[in-house]
Amino acid sequence: MSLIETMKKRQSVRSFDTQNITEIDFKTIRDYITMEENLIGPFGNKGKIELIQVTNNVSDKGIKLGTYGFIKNPQGYLVGVTENSKYTLVEFAYVFHKLVLFLTELGIGTCWMGGTFSRNSFEQEIQLGVGEFIPCITPIGYPNQKQRVFDKALRYVVKADNKKPWEKLFFDGTFENILTKEQADLFEIPIEMVRLGPSASNKQPWRLVVSQDRKVCHFYIEHTPNYSSKLGYDMQLLDMGIAMCQFELACRELNIEGGWTVEEPILKLPNEQTEYIVSWNRY
Ligand SMILES: Cc1cc2nc3c(=O)[nH]c(=O)nc-3n(C[C@H](O)[C@H](O)[C@H](O)COP(=O)(O)O)c2cc1C
Repeated sequence: MSLIETMKKRQSVRSFDTQNITEIDFKTIRDYITMEENLIGPFGNKGKIELIQVTNNVSDKGIKLGTYGFIKNPQGYLVGVTENSKYTLVEFAYVFHKLVLFLTELGIGTCWMGGTFSRNSFEQEIQLGVGEFIPCITPIGYPNQKQRVFDKALRYVVKADNKKPWEKLFFDGTFENILTKEQADLFEIPIEMVRLGPSASNKQPWRLVVSQDRKVCHFYIEHTPNYSSKLGYDMQLLDMGIAMCQFELACRELNIEGGWTVEEPILKLPNEQTEYIVSWNRY
């Protein structure tokens, strides 16, 4: 199956079918999250992902896992665990998003969640090591076609279908020149996949600058001031790892060879909220 098609198709799913996830699918998920290569980020940092099965939102251990009513009929959760630093968060999101795409291909619905769940209840369920925390979870289950109304209402609240246009996000050589789709050359589809990716509150904080020779694509974040400060970690860094994942997997499918580096170019930044993260270099 084409991952690019999967990325175009993926949407957050918040209401699930009451049908249990089949044993075969649970096993496929378990196998995936225990394979080391699936847990390692682009710079070699390893995250952890735990699977929790639930019945009526209660785990086998008898713990009630709360999502404040945002999620209907989940059949389980995948829980992310990593350390709280800039690049571990970016790398972890890359790993977690690859899993989200894998689940989408299996026909399993997901919803990235960083905020609207009770961290406390999930922390009781899994063992956290020193310095570890839960940056994100996703409920899992088969999407419920009938309860689309609930999903639609929430999509409206978070403006999920309001994806920013190219000219607000992507730049040519410097932040002063906008990049059009037609001029993006080989990077057109990978960049479009970044644009379609999920982000916390759909804020779409990624800003990309493509070099004039079209060999390098620099990734920046435009932080939303105080976005997740109450939670004690910068949730928007997760959006950057997601963007890297969408971009790289699209490049791979299109045979655009390259790799990631952290080498900030000398560029005038548009505002104080904008921060350099990473670059993709074509070989
Ligand atoms: C890092 C991150 C955190 C998120 N946290 C939540 C959350 O706590 N609750 C929720 O309902 N949706 C959450 N979302 C889902 C976004 O609202 C959703 O991705 C966005 O509206 C775009 O919609 P789409 O995923 O259907 O493309 C989160 C997404 C990301 C990437």
